[in-house]
Amino acid sequence: MKKINIAIDGYSACGKSSTAKMIANRLQYKYIDSGAMYRAVTLYFIDNYVDLTNEKKVDKALKNIQIDFRFNSKKEKSETYLNGLNVEEDIRTMRVTNMVSEVSALPEVRKVLVDLQQKLGKKKGVVMDGRDIGSIVLPDAELKVFMTADMKVRALRRQQELLEKDQLVDLNDIIDNLAKRDRIDTTRKVGPLTKVDEAVEIDTTHMTLEEQVEEILNEATSRM
Ligand code: C5P
Repeated sequence: MKKINIAIDGYSACGKSSTAKMIANRLQYKYIDSGAMYRAVTLYFIDNYVDLTNEKKVDKALKNIQIDFRFNSKKEKSETYLNGLNVEEDIRTMRVTNMVSEVSALPEVRKVLVDLQQKLGKKKGVVMDGRDIGSIVLPDAELKVFMTADMKVRALRRQQELLEKDQLVDLNDIIDNLAKRDRIDTTRKVGPLTKVDEAVEIDTTHMTLEEQVEEILNEATSRM
């Protein structure tokens, strides 16, 4: 069977990354979490007080950032490293989540990260999730998926994920954050979140993770 690339885009907290990870696992493909890259850049910008309105400072900061993913065999998952430090937990905290869409809207940031993502996706056999994967990063992906879900369901899922990491966050704060990120992600000038015509749309509101995985795997198999 030929190897393909799978692009999974959609709104925040629709189940993209959990689904993408399981699909990559089942197909023995590489999973690339593009959101983790935007989060790592955001963490660096916060910790180094980078002024987002100053293009030169943003460019300079980007030159000091190196992101890579390393497999943690104990946890059996890939983790994000920023300049050699494991930041997997830090990048999922609300202080990063609250800022990430502002940072992701900067064209300079997108240019650097899209280049990196395209390099990682050059060899087929990749499942990548994000907002602009089907439209900009991997326009030749054989399968493009666009995921949606009801806002309340998305917020409850995200709240549960945070609870599992011992972070107790009010549901209304999560809804506010998701709505704000949706708005910034869909309206920014460069690489906005959009459903490309050829994408298969999946509404995960009433679906289990396993059902989402099966549906996408069926679509994938028909393209191999
Ligand atoms: O996927 P995740 O929710 O971790 O992404 C965090 C943020 O990174 C998104 O809200 C979005 O602002 C940004 N992002 C992006 N383009 C991508 C992936 C993520 O702008 N391809």
